[in-house]
Amino acid sequence: MLVRSLVLQLGAMPQTIVQVSDTHLCEIFPYFADNWQHFAKEMEALKPDLLIHTGDISLSGTMDDQAMRHIRNEIDRLPVQCLAIPGNHDIGTTGGPLKPISEERIGHWQTHFGEDRFAFDIEDWRLIGLNTEILGSGLPSEDLQWVHLETACANAGGREIGIFLHRPLFEKTPDEPSSRWSLIAEPRARLIERLRAHKVRFVASGHLHRYRYISLEGIDLVWCPTTAFVTASTKNDGCIRRVGYLKWTFEGRHVRHEFIEPDGFTNHDMSWREKRAAKRAAIAAGQLAAE
Ligand SMILES: [Fe+2]
Ligand SMILES: [Fe+2]
Repeated sequence: MLVRSLVLQLGAMPQTIVQVSDTHLCEIFPYFADNWQHFAKEMEALKPDLLIHTGDISLSGTMDDQAMRHIRNEIDRLPVQCLAIPGNHDIGTTGGPLKPISEERIGHWQTHFGEDRFAFDIEDWRLIGLNTEILGSGLPSEDLQWVHLETACANAGGREIGIFLHRPLFEKTPDEPSSRWSLIAEPRARLIERLRAHKVRFVASGHLHRYRYISLEGIDLVWCPTTAFVTASTKNDGCIRRVGYLKWTFEGRHVRHEFIEPDGFTNHDMSWREKRAAKRAAIAAGQLAAE
């Protein structure tokens, strides 16, 4: 079931939230439906208090009613309330060459999944979800989202604050240039400044299909894994490239999370795409003979 209201309250303690991300569901090309079915069974057993989906819910659902209806039905079958924020595969993104973000595309998301941002109170925490794909767009909805962030933080009533995003703040360093891996540089700097000002405790994101846990001056930065596919790598960069989800436990002002890799999950490895792209680039540069 999908939660549409913006501010909800839960009661007894401790509370469990599951964060799932980058499910990339698709009725026509159900490449990753196997892991989703295992995930659904896992939710039947775990029965968390809330599910938060941090985007790329679809493989290619932008402005596709049939695709989004199928996914909404899958979400509605779960025995848990769900809050979802969109990813670039769902609504396009700022500066996206193929699917630039637009108010129409945001509206399409809202038709199927409700608001593209949220505020939710649990234990002594205020959890805030933001639409990262709109940042830097200059659209009216971006202005409204900055107001949403300020209002939700200012009215937190002394609760601790956690933020959920699709795109991570940055991949390597907070001052890195804009790239397709993280936030556009200017709104990133503004967002980090506001997170510091409001003493945000953690930022949980998706998009990169890997798990990582680091700290930025006291703000925990947690990358949620995907249930769809990974890009295997031998890089020693602190990331775990395995499929799974995160189980968050909130108790009073304390929070902890676990990376869960359910039995039966398949690590679909899409690293062949990068190898193919590298080979094509080498051929184009004359460094490799075409076959
Ligand atoms: Fe993704
Ligand atoms: Fe993404």
